[in-house]
Amino acid sequence: MTDIQALLLSRIREVEDYPEPGVKFKDITPLLADPAAFGALTDALADIAVRTGATKIVGLEARGFILGAPAAVRAGIGFVPVRKAGKLPGATLSQAYDLEYGSAEIEVHAEDLAPEDRVLVVDDVLATGGTAEASVQLVRRAGAEVAGLAVLMELAFLRGRARLEPALAGAPLTALLVV
Ligand code: PRP
Ligand code: MG
Repeated sequence: MTDIQALLLSRIREVEDYPEPGVKFKDITPLLADPAAFGALTDALADIAVRTGATKIVGLEARGFILGAPAAVRAGIGFVPVRKAGKLPGATLSQAYDLEYGSAEIEVHAEDLAPEDRVLVVDDVLATGGTAEASVQLVRRAGAEVAGLAVLMELAFLRGRARLEPALAGAPLTALLVV
């Protein structure tokens, strides 16, 4: 484990039995409150964006916004929000998906992504992979190319990586921490 991985891991709090009994929730708010850790995370995500040749970061509501937006600014590229259904005022593309605790629908403004864009999708956690899979599908349906997916944490026991392989079609999935 690198020093940066150790720093990030040390700032993630495990909350037992949240949001339901038997679940260990990974709380990133201590990491966000620590400027050294949040800065290191932002730098690491911006590095991935630069290395993958991304022209846009797509961040996934809500926690993907917190991580993706500063990384886009640091990398000098644009930020595009993928929002939960009903929040975007313009012409949207939408995608339904299953998640760990139910089902949901997400949307993007189609005009914010162009065919020449290469998109790095950013989120905090890869769990079952449902959210990320739907987002990758949205990016493609908007006509842009998927440069990769970057997450702070991959919950390996939920096998999201395997589920995502067909959707990513060779684009890299980078997890800064695998837990
Ligand atoms: C959480 C997490 C990821 C997603 C991962 O979001 O932030 O976006 O679940 O789960 P999956 O891989 O099984 O799809 P959630 O919508 O619960 O909450 P948020 O709005 O706080 O990000
Ligand atoms: Mg989320």
